[in-house]
Amino acid sequence: MTRYFVSVVVAAALGTGYVLWSRPAFPHAQTTTTVQFDREIVHVLDNHCVMCHAEKGLAFPLTTYEQAYASRWQMRMEALDRHMAPWAAVPGYGDFANSNALTQREIDFVVSWAESFGPRNNGEVSTGVADTPTAPPAVQAHFDSGRWVLGKPDLLLPMSANTIEAQRAGEIKSTLIDPKLTADRWLRGLEYKPGDRRVVHAVSFAIRETGQWIGSWSPWQGFVSLPPGLAVKLPAGSHIVAEIRYYGCKEPVVERGSVGLYFAERPSLRRVSSLVLDAKAAAPASAVTRKLSATTQLEGDLNILSLEPLIRPGLESVEVTAKGPDGATQVLLFAQDIPLDWPTPYVFSRPVSLRKGTELSVIEHYARETSAPIAATPVTFSVYAGAALVSEQPKVQQTPAVQRFELSGTVKSVDAEAGRLLVQHGDIPGLMGAMTMSYRVGKQVDLKKIAPGDQIQSDVVVSDTGTFLENIQVIRRAK
Ligand code: HEC
Repeated sequence: MTRYFVSVVVAAALGTGYVLWSRPAFPHAQTTTTVQFDREIVHVLDNHCVMCHAEKGLAFPLTTYEQAYASRWQMRMEALDRHMAPWAAVPGYGDFANSNALTQREIDFVVSWAESFGPRNNGEVSTGVADTPTAPPAVQAHFDSGRWVLGKPDLLLPMSANTIEAQRAGEIKSTLIDPKLTADRWLRGLEYKPGDRRVVHAVSFAIRETGQWIGSWSPWQGFVSLPPGLAVKLPAGSHIVAEIRYYGCKEPVVERGSVGLYFAERPSLRRVSSLVLDAKAAAPASAVTRKLSATTQLEGDLNILSLEPLIRPGLESVEVTAKGPDGATQVLLFAQDIPLDWPTPYVFSRPVSLRKGTELSVIEHYARETSAPIAATPVTFSVYAGAALVSEQPKVQQTPAVQRFELSGTVKSVDAEAGRLLVQHGDIPGLMGAMTMSYRVGKQVDLKKIAPGDQIQSDVVVSDTGTFLENIQVIRRAK
């Protein structure tokens, strides 16, 4: 009872400090809410906040009832303004796997909970006996920073240490990781664990030798994972460069993280590569214009896995659109009020498949008061070319006109004139069992590049006009 009483007094005292308190909008609010900390609010904090707001985290802790209660008016404001959790993509454009935005329902929970004096629960444990040994432990938000979301890594690599001065403003440190590979490997995933979560804001990973961007880490998305069937080639002897964006905390810190690599057993079914669109000002730099843009026309079918804009001071919005050959325009990303401190990739929940001839454009707006000249501002796309992968095609009930399956096997003979391959292959799930069979190949396939004894991976396309092989990749050459 005492606890509840104290809460009300504190709320009233705090409340007078807030302008919003005087708004007559919620005179009855405290009696109408059913939102409780132990139920709804803990879920919001678990899912969106405590990866940063924790002891030894990037920001003040918001894990216990008392902490959240004391911050509830700021939580309400931050949620309404969509400042917290940091996520700049405007809802309704693009569907992102790594979005940390609160849903409208979650915003409603936070607002209504704050406006109703932040109840803990129905009153079961707020009787002042909560500290006795028999009482159930208080409900708290929780973040498990030690868990490997992708499972036990195939290769766990400690990174070299960086020293970050106290209170240091944002700085990027480049760290080289040597996986000491003696053979080519196919990277399907990567997970990173900062050594000290107080100072790491973002990390971008790339392969030094090929320049290939692998993906990025942010506090709410600790891993990069490619869709099934896709992997990035990590050549023997290659290195991974981690660009770590640090902000100093109260005291100097020696930070030493580690990275876990996850390998695919088979080579990637498609080549994953990066595409960079460098947005430039149309008019000379002296002009008042603060709009930058870039456009490219796709020379073949392309699938976009993710994209990441470079964030510069003054950047206000980024818009990425695709205008199809039929003239229909699709907005892939519209980001506004982009926080400088939280660079993030936008990872599509399902790769965006674009047809040949599509115009892919980036438009960026900078604040007029930005004094520094604005150089080209790139957006990096992670893509794969060709038809969308089998696993990414939408599931339809009826048998579609064209079906795709995955084959892997050994070429027995090549008949270039007839455009046919005799292949001994394993199971083709959904189509047929293991056998040796002659296949027609698609028009684009160059049979001169394939020899008997080669091990291949390929799509089997089954359509009204018959069955043929497409996207053939030689995994291992005949000796
Ligand atoms: C990516 C990290 C991150 C996430 C996720 C995040 N925050 Fe924050 N938040 C911060 C940082 C950093 C600050 C500034 C902290 C400071 O000044 O100590 C901050 C500040 C705040 C503030 C204080 C704002 C003010 O008035 O000064 C509130 C309230 C807040 N966050 C609530 C939330 C809530 C609620 C969530 C989840 C819905 C959330 N945050 C998610 C990093 C994060």
